[in-house]
Amino acid sequence: SLPVAIKSKINKLEIGKRFKVSGWIHRLRLQKGLAFIVLRDGYGYLQAVLSGNLANAYQTSTLTLESTVTLYGTVQELPEGKQAYGGLELVVDYYEIVGLAPSGEEAFTNKIQEGADPSLLLDQRHLALRGETLSSVMKVRAVFLAALRTTFKELELTEVTPPCMVQTQVEGGSTLFKLDYYGEEAYLTQSSQLYLETLLPSLGDVYCIQESFRAERSHTRRHLSEYTHIESELAFISFDDLLVHIETILSRSVELVLNDPIAGPLIKQLNPNFVAPKLPFRRMEYIHALDWLNEHGIPNEDGESFKFGDDIAEAAERKMVDTINEPILLIRFPAEIKSFYMKRCSDDPRVTESVDVLMPNVGEVTGGSMRSDTYEELIEGFKREGIPDFMKHYYWFIDQRKYGTSPHGGYGLGTERILAWLCDRFTVRDCSLYPRFSGRCKP
Ligand code: 4AD
Ligand code: MG
Repeated sequence: SLPVAIKSKINKLEIGKRFKVSGWIHRLRLQKGLAFIVLRDGYGYLQAVLSGNLANAYQTSTLTLESTVTLYGTVQELPEGKQAYGGLELVVDYYEIVGLAPSGEEAFTNKIQEGADPSLLLDQRHLALRGETLSSVMKVRAVFLAALRTTFKELELTEVTPPCMVQTQVEGGSTLFKLDYYGEEAYLTQSSQLYLETLLPSLGDVYCIQESFRAERSHTRRHLSEYTHIESELAFISFDDLLVHIETILSRSVELVLNDPIAGPLIKQLNPNFVAPKLPFRRMEYIHALDWLNEHGIPNEDGESFKFGDDIAEAAERKMVDTINEPILLIRFPAEIKSFYMKRCSDDPRVTESVDVLMPNVGEVTGGSMRSDTYEELIEGFKREGIPDFMKHYYWFIDQRKYGTSPHGGYGLGTERILAWLCDRFTVRDCSLYPRFSGRCKP
């Protein structure tokens, strides 16, 4: 009969007690008379030692990385200096093999090799996710999303789930994924913004955490074809209220993540120099950003100095925010380089009440604006953008300006970009479970 033991998660073990622990063999060292295992269960890591008959048994030599085992034993504290993986060690007195992973050609270490071609590693993403860095980022991701929900609750926003299959564009026709919807043309959503706007009169301020899809042709560090988009929309606010709301959401949720017992220490490991952003964030007008770029000799896309109306592309944007090295709320972009729905500034109708939040190392992590809230301004926007048949496809959105319009605005946050900033990852691909970009739709 088996010894009495309890099922336990690795991070809940207590010194001196006997436990049964199941998990995957994360590291393995066999040496004469001893087997050292680092066990992983998705909650943490635990060192374990098998000695005497247990280590000598024939089976020990068949153990392989990523095999699953159940270990029974007593927990002891490791001496200082040997405290990798939490500082505890399980002195094993009995074990069972649950699933033996292959050895030889098919061994785990042959599938996932450090420094291997990134596309080979992406083919093996289901295995690569078992690594310490990727799994840490995914834990931080989960805590970040939970922290955002807490923050939205504190600010009394209601969560909603708009549809992903739609017949309207939000951020330009060139990045739409088309699909055949029972013979009609439809798209995968680029943004839930228009739907959120329709909910203000019934639910008040709303937010959603939903996948957005963009057929981005170029390969960059920060573009995915599918990403987790956090969007919210607020009624009866001013542009300044919107900016304060955005910086509050970001700083509050980051504070919750840093104070979290799981994510806080992980961020320390991944990004030791991370400092929580201080309120208020620096505000910078687009037109002053052009001056800054010109003064610092950073050219526009054509290699010339920046002039009004130029897009500030990824490289220039990141140069600027990396140099300034703190969050920037970049505001008041020209209408021509922004989306059709953005409200123009009353003191300068060439520019809009728009904002991009820039973070060091990533650049734009959030885009938002006040919305054109009169019928006339919205229709003008559709015409400027050249959206075909807008009266037919957007009738429900246009109705918002007829049946009780209000000054309102909102924004979208790219989850993977925020994580790249928080966890100091080179690319957003490291912040998505199974990243999608052109040429990659598996596993
Ligand atoms: O700036 P974007 O395109 O703004 C919108 O979609 C608005 N309709 C949002 C709103 O006001 N409700 O996208 C918002 C954010 C960007 O700042 C960026 O962080 C992220 O979404 N994003 C992407 N992230 C990864 N891959 C892509 N291809 C992304 N495109 C945008
Ligand atoms: Mg944007």
